[in-house]
Amino acid sequence: MLGRLNHVAIAVPDLAAAMQIYRKSLDAIVTAPQHLPQHGVTVVFIELPNSKIELLEPLGEDSPIAAFLLKNPSGGMHHICYEVDDIKQSRDHLIASGARILGSGEPKIGAHGKPVLFLHPKDFFGTLIELEQA
Ligand code: CO
Repeated sequence: MLGRLNHVAIAVPDLAAAMQIYRKSLDAIVTAPQHLPQHGVTVVFIELPNSKIELLEPLGEDSPIAAFLLKNPSGGMHHICYEVDDIKQSRDHLIASGARILGSGEPKIGAHGKPVLFLHPKDFFGTLIELEQA
């Protein structure tokens, strides 16, 4: 079921400052910020030869990462994203095996314009997993 590692996401309290550090200290290629109100985040991507890093900043009142940043004020690793060939088939397989899907269970369009779902971290060893249609 699992394909490539699409990205690892890091929640940050100040996106502009984080972009600056990735550009200056790590000499990274950073994309322009994208506001995703449906997901309650603003994101940028760091392009790596074999994957991507996503930097996330809260957007709006009830951002899903606001509570995370309260617990981790300087930021921290937030989720990992695996690609799957057929997201609805993967979802149905996960539900049948007892895993919990966050939200309505229906895929939403993510930062790359492709359907995504999030899996409950308690079902996966404390790690929030995002699945993205390849
Ligand atoms: Co993500």
